[in-house]
Amino acid sequence: MKVAILGAGNWGTCLALMLLNKGHQIHLWEYNEQLVRDMITCRENRTYLKGFTLPEAISITWSIDEAVHGAECVLFVVPSSAMRQTAKTLGDHRILPENSILVSLSKGLEHNTLMTMTEVIADEIKGHRMVALSGPCIAYEVVQGLPTTIVSASQDAEAAQTIQDIFMTPLFRVYTSDDILGIQLGGALKNIISIAAGMNDGLGFGSNAKSALITRGIFEIQRFGVSLGAKPETFNGLSGIGDLITTCFSGHSRNRHLGEEIGKGRSLKNVIDEMIRYHYFSKRYEKNKKVFTNSGLNEDSTMKEEHRRRYYSISKVADMLDLKSHILRFWESEFSELRPRKNRAGNRVYTERDIKIVRLIKHLLYEEKFTIEGAKKRLKTDREMMNKQLSLPLSNNGNDNKAAIEALRSELNKVIEMVEEL
Ligand SMILES: NC(=O)c1ccc[n+]([C@@H]2O[C@H](COP(=O)([O-])OP(=O)(O)OC[C@H]3O[C@@H](n4cnc5c(N)ncnc54)[C@H](O)[C@@H]3O)[C@@H](O)[C@H]2O)c1
Repeated sequence: MKVAILGAGNWGTCLALMLLNKGHQIHLWEYNEQLVRDMITCRENRTYLKGFTLPEAISITWSIDEAVHGAECVLFVVPSSAMRQTAKTLGDHRILPENSILVSLSKGLEHNTLMTMTEVIADEIKGHRMVALSGPCIAYEVVQGLPTTIVSASQDAEAAQTIQDIFMTPLFRVYTSDDILGIQLGGALKNIISIAAGMNDGLGFGSNAKSALITRGIFEIQRFGVSLGAKPETFNGLSGIGDLITTCFSGHSRNRHLGEEIGKGRSLKNVIDEMIRYHYFSKRYEKNKKVFTNSGLNEDSTMKEEHRRRYYSISKVADMLDLKSHILRFWESEFSELRPRKNRAGNRVYTERDIKIVRLIKHLLYEEKFTIEGAKKRLKTDREMMNKQLSLPLSNNGNDNKAAIEALRSELNKVIEMVEEL
């Protein structure tokens, strides 16, 4: 069967591998062109599912039309925030085969409307059978072939069964349900309790409190779901209590991890920045995070002042940023912005500022795929912009100068913030 998968994130890529193994014809669509190129060249999704080879049999594309052309089944695996746009693009193009089944594997509700994902899809693409697949299914376990269960829910029993057949393997067991609303509410609302369970872990509150939180949490989810029209028994099943338990205990759950870091006293922004910077699902995440945290380079507001003034050896910086020392030396010779000073022993040492520049260079070369010359130009433009903002004319009048210096300070802060965000 031809299956189109929309979204080559952690879950979408895992599903592509799993369904290919089952003998389906897989077309994987990803909106990020750079990621598509990278996956085609390396036959690996180095951003979201590092370490797993993507066989040539998986067709990878950023053309949504090409991906869904002739597909009997279309899986939506984009984040809930991107669901409407993705469905709208597909609806506008009018290229879906009439009888194709649309399946949501995303967990979440739409902001503002609070619609479920299948409601959002149906709002943009009319006349198709809709299915939601949800349950305790952490992609990293599924891709390793660990036993998993999930629920295929639809108001159309035949559609739910067709999807059950497409996915079912001895290690991936699919149950069916007609409560498409309850299945999706369980998958979305459990995230809130999962963040709270993580906070419980971060605060060191122990198992008693965590169990109480989970038990009371599922009751609240159930009451809320039933008041919206879902069936009460759905929340006692895999996509309710099942998914809640997994997400509250799993070391792979992003929501639980986020809560845990907040529970330890860190700011929401700081934790999210870090998760994005080190791609939470990268195998190197834990290692990077450890080095990052121990380095004192954590840009949290709670960062100690003495850490800001520290100097770092080239090997320490290389380790911290997951680079080789010889690459840093090469960059020193290429980028005039990078000017590590020498310590008393004559060894080059990096300051916080140098480290930020290295991070920026790494980002430009590795993430944005700039060439060395391109990255140099980009850094030069940034520096010129900074200089332009710094070249405020000073006058002989002290008051004018005060105002000019204030304006300069505020501009400078903006530039620093911009660089820090990278
Ligand atoms: N990872 C899991 O274990 C897992 C399991 C079950 C369900 N889910 C659900 O699947 C959905 C996707 O999760 P994930 O873990 O694969 O996410 P991810 O963060 O690993 O990947 C996100 C994907 O969405 C793409 N994307 C980002 N913005 C986009 C946009 N504006 N338009 C189109 N695509 C965009 C990204 O390029 C990437 O391919 C979520 O709703 C999640 O709750 C995930």
